[in-house]
Amino acid sequence: MRKPLIAANWKMYKTPKESLAFLREFLPLVKDHTTSEIAIFPTMSSLGYVIEATKGTNVTAGAQTMHWLNEGPYTGQTSPTMLESIDCTRVLLGHSERRIYAHETDDMVNLKLKAALDHELIPVVCVGETLDKRQSGLTEAVLRWQIACALNGIKGASCGNLVIAYEPVWAIGTGSVATPEQANEAHAIIRREVAAHLGSPCASGMRILYGGSVKPDNVASLMSQPEIDGALVGGASLQAKSFAEIVRNATAA
Ligand code: PGA
Repeated sequence: MRKPLIAANWKMYKTPKESLAFLREFLPLVKDHTTSEIAIFPTMSSLGYVIEATKGTNVTAGAQTMHWLNEGPYTGQTSPTMLESIDCTRVLLGHSERRIYAHETDDMVNLKLKAALDHELIPVVCVGETLDKRQSGLTEAVLRWQIACALNGIKGASCGNLVIAYEPVWAIGTGSVATPEQANEAHAIIRREVAAHLGSPCASGMRILYGGSVKPDNVASLMSQPEIDGALVGGASLQAKSFAEIVRNATAA
């Protein structure tokens, strides 16, 4: 019922030239793939090029962040209308690296999510606990709080395209992937919290991606869990062969 979504988060890697070289290798490797959606989140400087180069293919592209206002004196920011104007269809919101290094708060994530839904950009809202919080037994509390804040004031009727990514901070870029059971349990907590805010139909149709050290050899066991509907992949998405292998392995079973 929930079509898997396999997404590449390129973070601050790849110039436009390198992004296009990746696509020249990657697109033929996945051109017959129909069992999941594929998305790439390149840097802002590559985004327009990637959108143009993926038109008419089974790959779509999105921004790694955006502001919630349409315009204003906010140096360095990109607005939802600017993303729309280059045919961008997706946006990542509240990635832990944005929360840590750009001081994005839960309230800002909420404003951005409302703006994304208003502009019909498909949002991927990232949540996840730090190692410290997990070790203190606070994983559930953190996830419920982040979801409650992100969804504050949002109505179930507008949730159509909402995607959540569970990315435990301790698993991002560290090589220590969550076990499939740990991830499944966290996804179930997230889905219950979404159901409490937006209703069960919305929650049961919503995709929850796992992110944090996903690799070609661990994606299948993660995807075998009932609550895991896809992956958000950082490091292992930077090489075309490795990301194509993840796309294939995710739904091979
Ligand atoms: P990683 O990053 O796959 O390199 O751990 C995931 C992410 O930050 O989205």
